[in-house]
Amino acid sequence: MVKAVVLGASGGIGQPLSLLLKASPLVDELALYDVVNTPGVAADLSHISSPAKIEGFLPADDGLKKALTKADIVVIPAGIPRKPGMTRDDLFKVNAGIVQTLVKGIAEFSPKAFVLIISNPVNSTVPIAAEVLKNAGVFDPKRLFGVTTLDVVRAETFVQEYSGAKDPSQTTIPVVGGHSGDTIVPLFSQAKPAFTIPADKYDALVNRVQFGGDEVVKAKDGAGSATLSMAFAGFRFAESVIKAVKGTKGIVEPSFVYLPGVPGGEAVAKATGVDFFSVPIELGATGVEKAVNVLENANETEKKLLEVAIKGLKTNIEKGVDFVKNPP
Ligand code: NAD
Ligand code: LMR
Repeated sequence: MVKAVVLGASGGIGQPLSLLLKASPLVDELALYDVVNTPGVAADLSHISSPAKIEGFLPADDGLKKALTKADIVVIPAGIPRKPGMTRDDLFKVNAGIVQTLVKGIAEFSPKAFVLIISNPVNSTVPIAAEVLKNAGVFDPKRLFGVTTLDVVRAETFVQEYSGAKDPSQTTIPVVGGHSGDTIVPLFSQAKPAFTIPADKYDALVNRVQFGGDEVVKAKDGAGSATLSMAFAGFRFAESVIKAVKGTKGIVEPSFVYLPGVPGGEAVAKATGVDFFSVPIELGATGVEKAVNVLENANETEKKLLEVAIKGLKTNIEKGVDFVKNPP
């Protein structure tokens, strides 16, 4: 039996993500939590003829506790999105506190659940979640994931004209680092199957993967950021975690994890000098089975991109850790 929970379920990502989870035969129970509208979203989705039992919760009447109790996997897209001209770091002020509060709830009511953080800035909200779980004495790094799948999905899509793949999702591209601007590093040299990017197109392609989020923010013109593609990506990652728990072997997806606490992570931490980093993760019954050190095979151009990414990440990670250690 798998109970999935969405925190922030009434939002632009929360609703389509909840729809995908409700439609999935892998989910037996689905709890939707938000500060608004969850009774309506849950009532609507409850008419779908799929196996999952669904219920919506608001903060009143111990809603967070009821939503999280017996949860196996909790996905968090709660928090404000960007408007044109904003960076993800500009969201920190509001979203840091939201993530902290929700993860405190997880520590109390579902400490064994897999926790998937979508709320931005991911480079800082995941360290916040780790600190909260540490303080509560329930931190299992193998179960905490920053969701960077949208960067992977974008990379798969944007290279299609060079890969020639009929189905872009069949191209595997490790996208590593963090989830904002130049902290995102696509390692095209390790794409499988391999393909060639014309030299005069490489920089633009890297830039498009790094700043794909801005493309959507600009197009939505004040109405928020990526929601539908994010719901697709968030569901893909959640489904991978659930499939691995149910016994499927060999599932590998990049995710932003706490390196010192996961098998294989020490080598990446040593190579990068940071504790949190997105690398391809082999998933298993207990979460991260192995972090794959793809950095050692990066080419010279990619190494330069990695240097820039690591610099930015250090600041973002420290900001998150500091938010919990030295409350403002
Ligand atoms: P949205 O404003 O449409 O939805 C956010 C939802 O969170 C709202 O329904 C709101 O009521 C809810 N919420 C706010 N405070 C809450 C709390 N304390 N408890 C529970 N719910 C709460 O925003 P969105 O477009 O769905 O984006 C959500 C977040 O996801 C943003 O921070 C955005 O930047 C981020 N995001 C991340 C990625 C990624 O790749 N990781 C991609 C896209 C968006
Ligand atoms: C994205 O990559 O689309 C998200 O992180 C949302 C954003 O702010 O760009």
